[in-house]
Amino acid sequence: MANTVKVRVPGTTANCGPGFDAVGIACTIYNDLELTLNDQGGISLAVMGEGAGAIPADGSNVAVKAIQMVLAKTGCKLNGIHLKMVNNIPLARGLGSSAAAIVGGLVAANELTGNTLTKEDILGMATAIEGHPDNVAPAIFGGITVSIMDSGNAKYLRLQPAKAFSMVAVIPEFNLSTKAARKVLPDSVPFADAVFNVSRTALLIGALCTGELKLLSHALEDRLHQPYREQLIPGMAQVLAAARQTGALGAALSGAGPCLLAFTADDSDEVGKAMVKAFNIHKVPARYQVLAIDEQGAVII
Ligand code: HSE
Repeated sequence: MANTVKVRVPGTTANCGPGFDAVGIACTIYNDLELTLNDQGGISLAVMGEGAGAIPADGSNVAVKAIQMVLAKTGCKLNGIHLKMVNNIPLARGLGSSAAAIVGGLVAANELTGNTLTKEDILGMATAIEGHPDNVAPAIFGGITVSIMDSGNAKYLRLQPAKAFSMVAVIPEFNLSTKAARKVLPDSVPFADAVFNVSRTALLIGALCTGELKLLSHALEDRLHQPYREQLIPGMAQVLAAARQTGALGAALSGAGPCLLAFTADDSDEVGKAMVKAFNIHKVPARYQVLAIDEQGAVII
């Protein structure tokens, strides 16, 4: 059996406005992870690109955690874990870098231990590490996914959008941990806000499946998390407004942020430039990247 494997995993944008912890989209931005297992013990990690010098090379690393989970589950005795990562997904920005590391670790370790886990098993394990399924599901399956938790088990549905669209990810030059972004959320919300989000989430899925993309201007609205997270992202409201004013179909916080994401039919560069400019007015350096939907999810390369 080979003892080295390389996996490519897409970045992901979660929530998509109202679909908090449920909706996610795989995007055409990728991390590559090469895993070698041997019986010599030890953990090593070499990172190129995003996160170089910042990602821990020990058991606190989520990719290592994921690999160790597979080794324990499959009874594999190999104890040397050696990783090389080439990362394009920016760290702690709301584009699914930790989900990509977890899924990459699980898929690679599964491949090297005889491929005994199904993708559904991998979803369950990835969700246990990440804490919520909305980023890990599209990282595994590709496309647009809706996930729910049922008594601790993740269930998912992969959707086929009726019409293509682009996503403009505007990436500010500061990190925001998901932990910090979840800390500002309230324990309960007004009933009217819950109704607001239920209706928008239903509209979002309907709009994507029917291709009625002009409805995204309403379908990306949210009252469950974005209003509370605005305090953590200088200029957030103005950057989202700039996207809409420049012709975006709609715009929302990407995952827990601080990345902001516009959905576009055309004029993606115009939208990206306007959003960067709005961030700059608030003294936040930022860049943008135009992304499409990744259809494949994690693949062995
Ligand atoms: N649904 C999660 C959140 C995504 O918004 O906190 C973060 O990875």
